[in-house]
Amino acid sequence: MGGSFFMRVLVTGGAGYIGSVCVQQLLDGGHDVAVFDSLVEGHRRAVDARVTLIVNCLKDEAAISTAVKSFSPEVVIHFAGLALVGQSFEKPGEYFRVNFSGGLNLLHACVEAGVRKVIFSSTCATYGVPDELPITESTLQRPINPYGESKLMFEQALRWFHEIHGLEYVAFRYFNAAGATELLGEHHRIETHLIPNVLFAAQGKREQFKIFGNDYPTPDGTCIRDYIHISDLCRAHVAALDKVPVGRFNLGTGRGYSVREVVDSCERVTGRKIPLLETPRRSGDPPQLVARADQAREAFGWEPEFTTIDSIIESAWRWHERNPDGYPD
Ligand code: UFG
Repeated sequence: MGGSFFMRVLVTGGAGYIGSVCVQQLLDGGHDVAVFDSLVEGHRRAVDARVTLIVNCLKDEAAISTAVKSFSPEVVIHFAGLALVGQSFEKPGEYFRVNFSGGLNLLHACVEAGVRKVIFSSTCATYGVPDELPITESTLQRPINPYGESKLMFEQALRWFHEIHGLEYVAFRYFNAAGATELLGEHHRIETHLIPNVLFAAQGKREQFKIFGNDYPTPDGTCIRDYIHISDLCRAHVAALDKVPVGRFNLGTGRGYSVREVVDSCERVTGRKIPLLETPRRSGDPPQLVARADQAREAFGWEPEFTTIDSIIESAWRWHERNPDGYPD
């Protein structure tokens, strides 16, 4: 993928977990890349030294407008945002301010500067508790947390900017992003995600791993998610520079794993026994989120390469073993 032409691409959130991998793939494809990132969640060390890094926040309308005008990209890939379900209940206003208002600042800047296309990092959290499984792109979107709502609002703004201003867009609805590359991995300053937390317990950095809820209506009582490798996610974005039609696409493997199955996989991969503690449910967690990702396959031939949970967890484990403290900044 990538083709034989090069583009100027601005990546917001390019210092973050998924954005940094996308930046690497864009550079490998010969594209000219700049990153706009507040470094609130991102890490300077995750950004390749060849890239211009603009440190600022989307909430600053003048800053994003200047960045877009001066770099003058053909395409913007928009990863920047707040992405923790639990935190979105504590400060909903901040989720709407960054993910929605900040997103609008970006869209205005794109229209002003004549950007052709915006590729957006959306989420399966826009579906809420789905009324059908697997989830298709036309499954009703009814978010059950402010995070999912803020992402859905931005998807809707994209649709209108396309209709009214002709700005092309692709919204990718990620299922659960996981795994690592040789160089880049998952380092959140506050880690709430499943796989890193299980691996921290395997490394002895946590006394035990807490399973949030064992009474869900699933075969083993724990929540089921569709884990998708970040390299696979990012390949879809690179393809979207030119090959993907305007629209919304689920990105998942189509196979779900329960929390217990993820723990079992981590035990196989690490060869270590993981101490467990079963605790009550965490609020805002739907029992089951599994994608039907046929539309991405049919529209632009996207196929995940990491199809087993063990292969995804192996990649994450290698990165955590090599970088026990994550990034240095
Ligand atoms: N879980 C545990 N113990 C933990 C952490 C998680 O049991 O210590 C469980 C959760 O309850 C959930 C599953 O593991 O059932 C996965 O949880 P994650 O926090 O890893 O991810 P989510 O499914 O909550 O993902 C959601 C949205 C994504 C979003 C992500 C961002 O679905 O769109 O949060 O944080 F990007």
